[in-house]
Amino acid sequence: MKRARRNHAQAPTRRDFIRAAGLGAGALVLGGCDALTRQNRPTGGARTAGGGRVTEYSLQTARMEVEIGGQRFTTWGYNGGVPGPEIRVKQGDTLRARIDNRLPEGTTIHWHGQPVVNDMDGVPDVTQPPIGSGGRFTYDFVVPAAGTYFYHSHVGLQLDRGVYGPLIVEPKNETLSYDKEFTLALDDWLDGVDGRVPEDELENLRSGGSAMMEGMGGMEGMGGMEGPQNGEPARTPPDTIYPYYLINGKPPGRPEELEVRRGDRVRLRLINASGATIYRVALAGHRLTATHTDGQPVEPVEVDVVRLGPGERYDVLVEAANPGVWQLAAEAEGTQMIARAVFRYRGSSGPAPPPDLMPSELKGNLLTYDMLRAAPEAETVPEGKPDETVPLTLDGDEQEYTWSINGQRFPDADGISVNRDALVRFEYRNMSEMPHPMHLHGHFFRVNNGAGNGPIKDTVLVEPKQILATDWLADNPGAWALHCHQIYHQEGGMMRVVDVG
Ligand code: C2O
Ligand code: CU
Repeated sequence: MKRARRNHAQAPTRRDFIRAAGLGAGALVLGGCDALTRQNRPTGGARTAGGGRVTEYSLQTARMEVEIGGQRFTTWGYNGGVPGPEIRVKQGDTLRARIDNRLPEGTTIHWHGQPVVNDMDGVPDVTQPPIGSGGRFTYDFVVPAAGTYFYHSHVGLQLDRGVYGPLIVEPKNETLSYDKEFTLALDDWLDGVDGRVPEDELENLRSGGSAMMEGMGGMEGMGGMEGPQNGEPARTPPDTIYPYYLINGKPPGRPEELEVRRGDRVRLRLINASGATIYRVALAGHRLTATHTDGQPVEPVEVDVVRLGPGERYDVLVEAANPGVWQLAAEAEGTQMIARAVFRYRGSSGPAPPPDLMPSELKGNLLTYDMLRAAPEAETVPEGKPDETVPLTLDGDEQEYTWSINGQRFPDADGISVNRDALVRFEYRNMSEMPHPMHLHGHFFRVNNGAGNGPIKDTVLVEPKQILATDWLADNPGAWALHCHQIYHQEGGMMRVVDVG
């Protein structure tokens, strides 16, 4: 069994070797390009694993303005843009990212999905104190896993502002062949609209003013008690209907255009960076071949639609063989709204499809976990009888808008201790009416999808009334967050700290 890819012994150096640079607002990435990073290596050699290089980034999080649909909103983000700069590194290299916090409150960065050393994991008051307003911190770690990831603040509701960016880790040897790639970050947006901030939305949810309450009447008709075992997951009305749904920070009225050529094989890296929205993604006139979920390779499956809960990622390949101008739509599940990009063949000069066009492909064949098998190159989680089984009952009080695991609401909740190197089974039992995208830090897990050799992931959607098991090897010591990635559920208590002794 191969599991030696990460280097636990690697102590972060935390040496503040950072290129001196004037960091104006909106300063862009300093490191990240080979030439720069080589120049920037400290003489005498940084401690890196396996002779890997050091790649440096400078991030600044600050109050800023974004323009969405012709309106300007005040928000918080990285380096003056939403999403923040794409961080690109090679597996096994050292990522050294300095963060200057110019927000009015503390922040951290979490490297979502990467099984980093514990003290680089960015969970406030669990793995580090928050970086105070005006403070600075340097994350410095060997990047363990290849694939499509993202980074984001782990403080409060900051993720539901704009405090996130893509993290792409190239494998040591790329085995997938493709001509072109695009990173597509899906987001839901309310920050600054009508002067509202995410904290107002949480207040609103707590006082019963949520979209969920309005949507409750429709629940019975949706067969919500059945669970998803007998077919496709339902479109559950979301807690919050957002004013905007975005791809790479752009609303449907001003979409990003992806230019392709006939004959291209196109890789799309889909990241659900939203606060609270499940997306269904389809491309008019084309099928999607899913090759990775949460960065980890799967046996390729061809479908029409992929579905992503907050925190999940899929990589899909598209064969560009149908020239034209096509809608790439991300349906915000349970609403009639979409985020979109435009897939345009070179030489096709027609107008973009209407902003609200829902491609018929959205009604096509949907990728579900039971269709996925881990590919041999994926990180390995042994199959077999677990050493420890932890039952995790997910529930909520929808009146008070509090969310619980085994009846307790974080931070008033017990830790979960597991033995080092144990094969652990988390057995989720979702008693609530909402889907929960459950995310474990520091480890990958295998989704027990009933079909054998289930996919390796870091975030899994547990449907209303569903029972679902995930297995993981507790081989990364430390205190790791386990939580729902619907940020308002997390903030409402659906989180625990798992201690790997
Ligand atoms: Cu993407 Cu604990 O988070
Ligand atoms: Cu949840």
